[in-house]
Amino acid sequence: MTATSSIHGMWSTRLAFILAASGSAVGLGNIWRFPYTAGEYGGGAFVLVYILCVVLIGVPIMMAEIMLGRRGRRSPINTMRALASAEGRAPAWQLLGWMGIVAGFLILSFYSVIAGWTMGYIFRAASGLFTEIDATGAGEMFSGLIGDAERLLAWHTIFMVMVVLVVARGVAGGLEKAVRILMPALFVLLVVMVGYGMQAGDFDTAVAYLFEPDFAEFQGKAGEAILSAMGQAFFSLSLGMGAIMIYGSYLKRDSSIAQNTMIIAGLDTLVALLAGLAIFPIVFAHGLAPDSGPGLIFQTLPIAFGDMPGGSFFGALFFVLLLFAAWTSAISLLEPLVAWLVENLSFSRVRASVLGGLTVWLLGIACLLSLNAWSEVKIFGKGFLDLFDFLTANILLPLGGVLIAIFAGWMLSRASSSDELQMDDGPAYRLWRLLIRYVAPIAVGIVLLNAVGVLGWIGLG
Ligand code: PFF
Repeated sequence: MTATSSIHGMWSTRLAFILAASGSAVGLGNIWRFPYTAGEYGGGAFVLVYILCVVLIGVPIMMAEIMLGRRGRRSPINTMRALASAEGRAPAWQLLGWMGIVAGFLILSFYSVIAGWTMGYIFRAASGLFTEIDATGAGEMFSGLIGDAERLLAWHTIFMVMVVLVVARGVAGGLEKAVRILMPALFVLLVVMVGYGMQAGDFDTAVAYLFEPDFAEFQGKAGEAILSAMGQAFFSLSLGMGAIMIYGSYLKRDSSIAQNTMIIAGLDTLVALLAGLAIFPIVFAHGLAPDSGPGLIFQTLPIAFGDMPGGSFFGALFFVLLLFAAWTSAISLLEPLVAWLVENLSFSRVRASVLGGLTVWLLGIACLLSLNAWSEVKIFGKGFLDLFDFLTANILLPLGGVLIAIFAGWMLSRASSSDELQMDDGPAYRLWRLLIRYVAPIAVGIVLLNAVGVLGWIGLG
C-alpha cells in the first residue's frame, strides 16, 4: 500500500541517506551547543544523562521517525495524515507535522545567527587576529562581534541565502557530495584539536570533568539539568520536528533502519564528545569558566589556534568546516515546510524555499537584535534568541518526540511497524517496541511535566 518513492526525489544510495542524515544531525548542536550546555551543568553528570537520553530515547525515536517517513513518503504533515488514515486514527495527528514546522522555523532563525558568528570567525582567523590572543582578547573579540547588529545581520542574510539556494535545488542533489568530503574533514580537524588539547591544554582535568559524573553538580537544579540534557539529545539528533522523518521519506526500502540509526546516532555522539575534549582542556588551562555560556567555543578556540603553528590557516579551516556542518543541518530544518508547500499549494521548489527562507530571515532579525539593541527586551526572562532556543530544544522537540513515539508505538499496528522496520518479531524488535511504547514516552513525559512545574515555580507557568 505504500508508495515506493517520493515526488521530491530519492537518495541515490544508502550511504547518501546516512551522509545526509548525519549532515543534519552533526552541526552547531554538537560543537557549539553541547560543550557550553554541559559546562553550564557542571560536566560529567550532564554528559552521562545526555548519553542515556541518546541511547534510550533518541535511538528508538530516530528509528520511528525514519520508519514513519519512509512509510508516508510525503512531507511530515501529509505523512502523518496519510498514516493516521491508513491505520484508522484521527486526522488530528497531522498537527504533529505542523508543530514541527513551527519548531523548524524557530530553530533556523537563531541557528542562522550562530552560523553567522562562525562566518565572522573564518575571517578573524584568516586575517591573523587569533595570533597569540589571550582569554581577555578572545572575550573582547566575541563581545565586539555580537554587539554589532549590522555585521550580524549581514552574516545572517548570507547564511539564509546559502540555505535557500540548496533547498531550492532539491536536497537529494548537491548535499550528498558536500557531506561526503566535508564531514570527514571536520572530523579529522576535531581530532587534531583534541591532540592540541592533550599536548598544550589541561587534558586530564577536562577528561575528569566530562567523564566523572558528580551529581552534586546538579544540586538544586536537577530538573533543569535533566531537561537540558534531554533537550540537547533531541536537538543534536535532529529529532522531534520531522527533519529526519522527511529524510527517511527519500530512503529506499531495501535499507536497514536500525543499522542506519546506530551509525547516525553514534557519529553524532562521537563528534559532540570530541568537541568537548577539544574545548575543555583549553578552558581549564586558561582559567576560563566552563559555564560562560553560548560564547564558549568562540572564546576558547581562538586561544588554541593563536598558539599553534599555522593557527591562522587551521583556525580559518575549522570555522569553514563548522559552517558547512551548520549548513547541512539548516537545510534539513527548512525541507519539511518546503515539501509541504510543494505538495499542498503546488508551489515550485524555488518559490517555496524563498518564502520559507524570508520568514525565517525576519524572525532571525529579532534573534540577532536580542544580543545588542534589544537586550532589554525579555519574554519570560529571556531574550528572543535564548527564548527560541529554550522553547524548541527543551519543549517543542521533546513534545514532538513523545507524540512520534506514541504514534509509532501505539497507533501504528505491530504488523505495520515490523514490516517497515524490516524486523521480525525477535528480541531487537521487541526491545525497540518496549522503548518506544513505554520508556521513551514515560521518561520524556516526566521530564516535561516536571519542567512545567519548574516553570510555574519560577513564575513562568
Ligand atoms: N542537529 C542539528 C545540530 O546538532 O546542529 C540541529 C538541528 C537540525 C536540530 C535539524 C533539529 C533539526 F530538525
